[in-house]
Formats: sequence, structure tokens, C-alpha cells
Amino acid sequence: MKKIEAVIFDLDGVIVDTAIFHYQAWKRLANEMGFDLTPEQNEHLKGVSRFESLEIVLEIGKINHLSEKEKEEIATKKNEWYRENILKMTTDDILPGVHLFLEKLKSANYKIAIGSSSKNASTILERIGYSTYFDAVVDGTKINYSKPNPEVFIKAASELEANPKNCIVFEDAAAGIEAAINAGMKSIGVGKPDILYKANIVIPDLKNLDIAIFDKLIEH
Ligand code: BG6
Ligand code: MG
Repeated sequence: MKKIEAVIFDLDGVIVDTAIFHYQAWKRLANEMGFDLTPEQNEHLKGVSRFESLEIVLEIGKINHLSEKEKEEIATKKNEWYRENILKMTTDDILPGVHLFLEKLKSANYKIAIGSSSKNASTILERIGYSTYFDAVVDGTKINYSKPNPEVFIKAASELEANPKNCIVFEDAAAGIEAAINAGMKSIGVGKPDILYKANIVIPDLKNLDIAIFDKLIEH
């Protein structure tokens, strides 16, 4: 990478802490079906679509007798529980350091996008005052394949008219880092290095983050 054209952000777990709401809802569903979901198992649900997540949860619980209709019903139930939480969100729920860093990017004329597997992305962006803030939003309603497939990030780059090679992705999910690699992009993992070890750099959060971090990704 010689020059950075655009920066693509995952939403759940990077911009806002909705990853915990997803976990709580899946855990509640698992508990209703008679089993538990550990934080380690939950890592496999991050970044993947609602239905793929459901399949993973059912596999963990060794539940293999459900019809497609029953699966649809429980995925809907999970989504309703999840939406009860996101509908209460406000601008105060933007994670620490995020807004300041986004403002720095905008001032320095970087193009910014959201690349999320979620079909609830527009609701969240509206709740936190970011409906029109990003130059592009590619979410679960615009893609056929969720992360680790690169589609979401390739589409975001295309909407920004940026070369994928010159894009940086911020991600909290292992599947999202894989998607960035599959898209030919550099990645910054937000979270724990043992989970995000395939990222180019891992940071705990966006607090006090400066654009100078990109220097570590540029080949001089
Ligand atoms: C991703 C989350 O952003 O969106 C996943 O990391 C979630 O955990 C996926 O399953 C789909 O979200 P939704 O809101 O469409 O159910
Ligand atoms: Mg995420």
C-alpha cells in the first residue's frame, strides 16, 4: 500500500458496542433451548449474518430437528430482542474516541464508509446521529455473502471509487479481518490480539487514536 484513499469501518463492536447486545440475545435464545453460549463461542458469531449465526448456535446446542420455518421464527425472535436494545441507543453510545477519530479523517479528506453484515445498520446509524455522516454505507441489505467473504468491503470501496488495495478496514471480528484480507485490504483489529492475530495491527479501542497509525501500514 502506497497511499491510503479510504477507510472502512465495521459497525457492531467498532463504532458502537452492539456486539454485546447480539451476544445477550443469542445467549437468551440458547438458554431457552436448554444450553449456554460462552464468550469464546460467541466470537464465531461476530461478523457473520443472522442466519449463519443461527446455524452456528444450533450446531453448538446440537439442535438439528428444526424446519426452515421454525428457524425463521427464532431468528426473528432474536432480532426483536436485539432491536429492543438498539432502539434505546443515542449519540452517547458511540464508543470512546470514535467520533474524534472520524472527524480527524474527514478533516484530512479521507473517504469513510461503513462495511457491516447487519440488516439493522441503518437503524443504528440513525439512533447515533450518523445517518448521513459516512460517504458510503454498505450493510447486510446490500450483500449476498457475509464476512469472511470480501463482498461488503469490495462494494464499499467501489461506492467510494477507491482501489481496494488502498483501503484500510477497522474490525472487531476475526471473520471481518479475513474479509479484509480476502478483499486485498489492510486491517486494524479492534479488540484482543489473540482473536484478531491476522490483522496488520491490533488496538484495544479508538481512544486517542491518531492518523499517524496509518504510517505503520504504508510501504515507504
Ligand atoms: C454483524 C454482527 O455486524 O451483523 C453479527 O457482528 C450479526 O454478530 C450480523 O449477526 C447480522 O446482524 P443483524 O443485525 O442483521 O442480525
Ligand atoms: Mg463487528
